[in-house]
Amino acid sequence: MHPPFVVSAAVPVPEYARTVSSAIAVIVVAAGSGTRLGHVEPKAFVPLGSGTVLSVAVDSVLGMRETPHLVLVVPGERIESTRARFAPIAAASTAALDVVSGGATRQESVANGLAVLPAGVDVVLVHDAARALAPGLLFDEVVGAVRARRRGIVPALDVVDTVKRVSDDGRVLETVDRSSLRAVQTPQGFPRASLDHAYATAHGEFTDDAALVASTGLVVDAVPGDVRAFKITVPADLHRAEQLVAEAAGRAAVDAGGSAAPDGAPSPARLWPRVGTGSDVHAFADDPSTPLWLAGLEWPGERGLSGHSDGDAAAHAICDAMLAAAGLGDVGQVFGTADARFAGAHGEVFLAETRRLVEAAGWRVGNVSVQIVGNRPKLAPRRVEAEALMSRVLDAPVSVAATTSDGLGFTGRGEGVAAIATAMLVPRG
Ligand code: CTP
Ligand code: MG
Repeated sequence: MHPPFVVSAAVPVPEYARTVSSAIAVIVVAAGSGTRLGHVEPKAFVPLGSGTVLSVAVDSVLGMRETPHLVLVVPGERIESTRARFAPIAAASTAALDVVSGGATRQESVANGLAVLPAGVDVVLVHDAARALAPGLLFDEVVGAVRARRRGIVPALDVVDTVKRVSDDGRVLETVDRSSLRAVQTPQGFPRASLDHAYATAHGEFTDDAALVASTGLVVDAVPGDVRAFKITVPADLHRAEQLVAEAAGRAAVDAGGSAAPDGAPSPARLWPRVGTGSDVHAFADDPSTPLWLAGLEWPGERGLSGHSDGDAAAHAICDAMLAAAGLGDVGQVFGTADARFAGAHGEVFLAETRRLVEAAGWRVGNVSVQIVGNRPKLAPRRVEAEALMSRVLDAPVSVAATTSDGLGFTGRGEGVAAIATAMLVPRG
């Protein structure tokens, strides 16, 4: 199942994985007026994100693994503008496009779309533009199920609320057993012949295509739906959709490394954490009087590490991880050896300065984990102390672990200490 209320950024389907086929058609019905939404525009033409409800829906359809024949059913007076807007987008995806006028009811609108399908189409999906955030993968799943089962397929969610039958005057009559109830969504998919037959023979008005097809005696199966395929009906739904689209846009910006800030660092897309990895190695110093500084602590009696600074590999690995997560480069770049401020500086100073930099870039530290690799010092007796000190400096939980390398490599031979760190940064509110 898909995680709830998460809109995935449109993941482009790589060319090699795309099949250009005329076998699938998706009819997007967008001819309703949106009375319950109460917007001046018809619902499908209401702004959503950087586009409209309809354009967001079309993005998902064009994200399908197989390129479909796309039919948009819109109010009559919007046919030309819709064609002008979507023809280039469809062409870029090699999708055939038809734009037709809707009818007085949803059912009539679907029928108008069906009427223009070319002969080669053998699987038809019908989708409400109002379910704009239904992900492309849901369409793929419905197509797959129609092909595998050769029958109508509807995405459906379990009903989570307790359901009651209530009289017209508001009296609760009974609790309905919800175990067999499902809330049905779109896209609904059908073998083309079934849908044509059903539309040609059904009598009466149905609220969805599954009901119309079932009324002609054909079998329809339910498959797991997706919370994102909710229908934008009232203003609160539009608000929710806006939030999800903004979240997806934020995630896309993060995926793209963020937009460039003036200093060249990616600006944080405000909704998603970022992680970074860092590592560092320092050799033990030849001079036996060199003190050991590691994980922010001084270790009296232990052999020291060499380096421009105090050689605190653990602190430096953490700094690298934080800088990487923020997209700010690495320790060498930020704290060049030419910078006198950091000559001989302790890990605490590097950590504090790195925290300042990532916070200035719009992040705060979520948590940090570092593992020290080496024979000495033995960490366990002072682990809590090291964690407390670095947690305080970063104002976030820092976990410190240690391991030997089983006698192997430079750490195993006792030539130096290595450290590997992961940092998670979260956008500052
Ligand atoms: N629809 C359509 N033609 C109609 C009526 C509805 O194409 N004559 C479409 C709507 O555009 C919508 C989908 O069917 O994408 C589901 O309908 P609904 O959510 O009820 O939308 P509206 O009818 O526009 O809204 P309302 O009922 O609030 O007026
Ligand atoms: Mg309606």
